[in-house]
Amino acid sequence: MHRVDDVPMRSAGSTSTEPPLSHSEPWWRSAVFYQVYPKSFADGNGDGLGDLIGLRDRLDYLQQLGVDALWLSPFYTSPGADGGYDVADPTDVDPIFGTIADFDALVAAAHARGIRVTIDLVPNHFSNQHPWFREAFAAEPGSRERARFIFRDGQGPRGDLPPNNWPSVFGGPAWTRVPDGQWYLHLFAAEQPDLDWSTPEVAAEFERILRFWLDRGTDGFRVDVAHGMAKATGLPDIAASTLAKINDADHMRPSDDPRWDQDEVHEYLRAFRRVLDSYPGDRMAVGEVWASGGHRLARYVRPDELHLAFSFQLVEVAWSANEFRAAIEDAMQTMPAVGAPCAWVLSNHDIDRHVSRFGGGTVGTARGRAAALLQLALPGAVYLYNGDELGLPNVDDLPDSVLQDPAWDRTGHTVRGRDGERVPLPWDGDTPPFGFSSSAATWLPLPASWQPLTVARQLDEVDSTLSLYRRALDYRAKSSTLHGNDFSWIGSPDDTLAFRRGEDFVVVVNFGGGPAPKPPGQVVLASGPLDGDGTLPANTTVWMREEKAAMDRSAGTSIRDQMTSG
Ligand code: NOJ
Repeated sequence: MHRVDDVPMRSAGSTSTEPPLSHSEPWWRSAVFYQVYPKSFADGNGDGLGDLIGLRDRLDYLQQLGVDALWLSPFYTSPGADGGYDVADPTDVDPIFGTIADFDALVAAAHARGIRVTIDLVPNHFSNQHPWFREAFAAEPGSRERARFIFRDGQGPRGDLPPNNWPSVFGGPAWTRVPDGQWYLHLFAAEQPDLDWSTPEVAAEFERILRFWLDRGTDGFRVDVAHGMAKATGLPDIAASTLAKINDADHMRPSDDPRWDQDEVHEYLRAFRRVLDSYPGDRMAVGEVWASGGHRLARYVRPDELHLAFSFQLVEVAWSANEFRAAIEDAMQTMPAVGAPCAWVLSNHDIDRHVSRFGGGTVGTARGRAAALLQLALPGAVYLYNGDELGLPNVDDLPDSVLQDPAWDRTGHTVRGRDGERVPLPWDGDTPPFGFSSSAATWLPLPASWQPLTVARQLDEVDSTLSLYRRALDYRAKSSTLHGNDFSWIGSPDDTLAFRRGEDFVVVVNFGGGPAPKPPGQVVLASGPLDGDGTLPANTTVWMREEKAAMDRSAGTSIRDQMTSG
């Protein structure tokens, strides 16, 4: 067995006549971001939970993987009612993750390796343990303290009905009553009261928070629920017909849902942009925006707003050439129109891992690898979720007793929630917890079946998913074609997609259940074994360089013709 370090990686320079990589574009436009879910990445202090020291200790791994930047999910002081997205002190580190000094050391160590650090910003809500909410809870209706949140009187003669019919994303009503009879709004858990962004003090506080982290060298932010910061004026009921369509598990929102995607949000995001632009070094922000289609999403990345917004289109599709093509086109026809790149996502901490979404088992793994090469060859930025590079599946048989997602309790134990995609990473060894922690009692148990998926095992295997990602990232890093914007579809047989980047870089994906013809050319990288008979096996993506002769021929033909004739 060779370690993958010993395996010569193909370099863009050795196989093409590409010009040297230009650095004229801001780094984030085509960067590979790696999302760290801090509780699940690596445990540095043996308490069974991942932390900042554990992450710092594993930075060499991330450097070898070839990522450009990290996105850290929340590590702030929090009671943990929603995995840290209930923030009680947005300018401090929760003791379970370490200290501010650990954060500073992490940023310095990452920067020393050429890796940028971006972090979560959670502006839609605070924890109910944040001092502001404690004050609001104790204060009078109509007070300045209550004006920071969304407190309202209830309906009905005794005010004991919620102010409107809005549901919480996690189940149950979006309103909770306080002892003096008023209600407060929480689009998520009751422990996450929504802030009122029309109150200037809220914007001022978030400017302070941004500056606090920017001053410490943070390179950017992922803005949580960016589409939720403004609610429709007057908090109108959701129309019954719309309410019937809402399935929060689907993430995508109907366009007439008054909870989301209101015009005022763009002013709040512009204020973030002004702060970011006042710092040197291309600081950036990416929005978590679940809007009803690319045309609405693009409004968040106009030149004076966010730099990026997640292109979630690829998480909404089944394993189908037609669906992938429509998803890619929706993103690519809308974002560039406002001058923004796409930011492609396959998985994150809120979504079933793509290996499982695409069928699980051997087939899901093959499709996951094929999807990865597709994702990494599209123009724009890419977001990887920790464990994507190991081909981790969801863990769907976690015991009920360990489930922590608030959706589990808020739905009366009918929705299991997102813990299955948050199981800690397997690093090495033959039994759980596979080097994640020195403690056997990890916050979620790792399945014994992950033994073949550990980092150590996969580093040793030339054909592992980890080796595939490392090769792909290495190639991408050196390729000015893949950093560019050039993209065109090429005709290809049913159940396949084919596109060209630059002059001669061709990507073909076979979504079908049997082999498809493969165009002539030099294979750069394939997501699975090729049969050597000139075909592209089922559930496989290939990166190719077209041969000169084939390019000349292709002037008047499509790849469909080349794939069927050649
Ligand atoms: C989106 C985050 O990704 C998710 O994990 C969280 O529960 C909600 N926003 C609320 O903050």
